[in-house]
Formats: sequence, structure tokens, C-alpha cells
Amino acid sequence: MDLNAIGVFFIAIILWPSVTSEMLTSVDPPTNLQVTDPGHLGQLHIRWKAPLSLTNKKLCVVRYMLRYCNVDSTNCKRVITRQLKYTDGFNLNKGINVKIQTLVKEQCINGTELHSNWIETIYWPSMEGHADSKGRDLQCIVYNLEYMDCIWQKGTSAPHDVNYALYYWHKELEYAVECNSYIKNQGSSVGCHFQGGDFIEFSDFNICINGSSEMGPVRPAYYTLQLQDLVKAAAPDKINMTLSRTDTIYLQWDPPTGKIKPHCLEYEVQFRGKDSHWESKIIPEGATSTFLNVTAKPMYCVRLRATVNIFCADDSFWSDWSSVQCLAGHSEGGEDVIIKINFLAELVVLIALASITLVLCMSALYWIRWKRLIAKKKPNMLLNDDTKNIKKSSSISC
Ligand SMILES: *[C@@H]1O[C@H](CO)[C@@H](O)[C@H](O)[C@H]1NC(C)=O
Ligand SMILES: *[C@@H]1O[C@H](CO)[C@@H](O)[C@H](O)[C@H]1NC(C)=O
Ligand SMILES: *[C@@H]1O[C@H](CO)[C@@H](O)[C@H](O)[C@H]1NC(C)=O
Repeated sequence: MDLNAIGVFFIAIILWPSVTSEMLTSVDPPTNLQVTDPGHLGQLHIRWKAPLSLTNKKLCVVRYMLRYCNVDSTNCKRVITRQLKYTDGFNLNKGINVKIQTLVKEQCINGTELHSNWIETIYWPSMEGHADSKGRDLQCIVYNLEYMDCIWQKGTSAPHDVNYALYYWHKELEYAVECNSYIKNQGSSVGCHFQGGDFIEFSDFNICINGSSEMGPVRPAYYTLQLQDLVKAAAPDKINMTLSRTDTIYLQWDPPTGKIKPHCLEYEVQFRGKDSHWESKIIPEGATSTFLNVTAKPMYCVRLRATVNIFCADDSFWSDWSSVQCLAGHSEGGEDVIIKINFLAELVVLIALASITLVLCMSALYWIRWKRLIAKKKPNMLLNDDTKNIKKSSSISC
């Protein structure tokens, strides 16, 4: 090995003057650009050959710049590689435009990098069948990382006898496999149920829904999913509420059981007093307890739901709401003191009110008696009527 390396070095020294003497001033594009579909429902292989003019120039650093995107898209990917092949995921619902050019730098040129012209090819996946015959609006939900259900809708102009089939592929499968548990509606397949073993996260999960019909071909529909972004957690459970001070509820719960890591969850707590609206509070990053500030109400109710947080996925679904848990504000335990204080305060107010009414009634009675005395001294009908009225009202208020 070492001898070989030394040999190459000496050959390089011998060749050096001839190489430098024929500096490249331009470079040819690669040849034989080809796109092939290995049947992975979205993955394509791109291959090409080095330009002939560079085959004898072993010392040149040759690289290739690839640009590829769907035919009607301007959002193309750019990749630079020294290999003669490249593999990536594509959207097979449309044609795919692939361009490539040669880049040369260092020994073979003087100054800046040389770029060849682009060569280009367009790859057309199978486009048979009417565009609106394909299964549409695929929706997949990964329930608590335990199983996944995918549902689709029939194409708007699909033949009435269409029979859809779902195939899927991910990098741990050698070839695409068919769904083995279809969800049926009136005899026809409208979805697929996946067991936990079929999952792969942070990698393309490719789906093709194709179909057959007596009336003619059905256009296949392709989807590429990231399963970690489609998770719907189970509803949180085992909620504990404690009234810790008059205006504070301490709330604590267990994360939903299952494969989702507890630090990957966040929660929404909703709480409300009797007869009021739900108020919301978001509890971030895996915390499983919180304090709620509440105003004096006879009863408090809470409910919780969970979702995967942004540190573990780009997107997710909210879980269902937990069952509603309620806490009567004036109840057991250490809160007795507060309740007694409240009770005493109410008692004081009641006594004060009673005393005031008593004093008022007494004064009214004394005033009536005094008026009667005067009336006896100077008889007057009008005054008597007045005293009658006063008697009436005083009897009502006392
Ligand atoms: C490289 O280019 C510079 C100016 O662009 C020139 O002076 C120099 O001689 C060139 N070298 C070779 C080896 O061609
Ligand atoms: C649907 O796609 C799968 C996988 O590519 C293929 O094996 C199957 O023959 C196709 N079915 C129809 C009806 O085109
Ligand atoms: C709820 O409170 C009870 C009694 O204080 C305790 O035994 C239980 O472990 C608590 N539950 C949780 C989920 O912490």
C-alpha cells in the first residue's frame, strides 16, 4: 500500500509539468444522465458518467452539481457530489426535472472553479388514468405510537367500481409491501390500519394508493410522510387537584402511558369555576404539575390534553381531553382554617346587619309612640292616617 502511494506520488511528480502545461480553460458536462425508479414509491436513483474529456486527467478534482425539483416548482434542491450517482426522495405525482453540471478546480485550472454547461432530463412517473381518479386527502394518525390509521377519499372522477390498494415503503424494507389490514366502508377499501412494528421515525414513509377498475386505469397517488409529526397522544390520566391556598389550586397528573417519552409532551390545562367559561394554560416541556390561580368560587373543574412538543417533532395532534375533574372549593383537610375564617367573617356581617335592623325598628317604634302622644293632644285625621302607614311599613320591615 505504502509503495503504491509512493509510486503514485512519483508519477504525479513526473506528470506534473505536462498537466500544468495543459491547463483547462473549459469543461464538458457529464454524459448519460439517467433517472431510475427502484419501486420505493418516491425514491429515485440518478446516475451519470464523467465527461470524456476528463477521463485521462486523474489529478483533476472533479465534482458534480445536481439541481432537481418537480417540473412546475422553483424550489429546487442543489447537491454537490464527487460520486457518479445520487439517491433522494421525490414527489412522483408530477414530472421531475433533473439538471447536472461538471465542476473542476485546483491542479487542472488556473484561478477560479470551472463550470460546464448543464445537461437536463425530465422523468415522468406513470401518468395513466384520469388525474381525478386517484385516492385523495390521505390522513394518517399515529395513536400514542401504538398503531397508525390512514384514511383516504375516493377520487372525484374515479370509476364507480374502483378498488383502491395501499402500498408502503420505508428504508428498512427491501421492497414496497401492501397494506395487510384494510379499513373498509361498504365493501371498499378506504383506509389502512398499521401495527406498531411498521413504524419508522425521522425517515421517509412512502405510500402509494393505486387502484383498479373494469372501466380503465386509475391514477396512482403518492404520499411521503414523517410519522413522528403525526402522533396523537393518549389523554392524560390520574389527575390530582389540591386546594393549597384560598386562591390557588395545585394540579398534578401522570403522563399518558405508552411509548412517547414524557419529556416530549406538553399539556394544555383548562379550568373553570362553576357557571363560567373554560380558561386555558399551556404547560410546556414535559412538566406534569402546575398551580392555578382561581377566584373564590364554590367549585372548580379542570380537564387536560397532551401533545408532542416542538423539541421532539415539527407537528402533532392534540390528544382527546381527559375526563373533567372537579374540586369543591370549601372542603376537607388543611383548608378548614380558611373556611372557618370565612365563616366568622360572614357571621360578623350578619350580626352587624341584624343589630342595625333592630336599632332601626326600635327607633321607628319609639317615633310612632311619640307621634301618637302628639296625636292624642291634637286630634288630626291626616296625621292618624300617616301613623297607620308608618305602622304598616314598620311591621313589614321588622
Ligand atoms: C495563471 O493566471 C495568471 C493570471 O490570470 C497568470 O499570470 C499565470 O501565469 C497563470 N499560470 C499558469 C500556470 O497558467
Ligand atoms: C400498485 O402498486 C404496487 C406497488 O408499486 C404494484 O405492485 C401494483 O401492481 C400496483 N397495482 C396496480 C393495480 O397498479
Ligand atoms: C394523588 O394524591 C393521592 C393522595 O394524596 C396520592 O396517593 C396519589 O399518588 C396522587 N396521585 C398522583 C398521580 O400523584
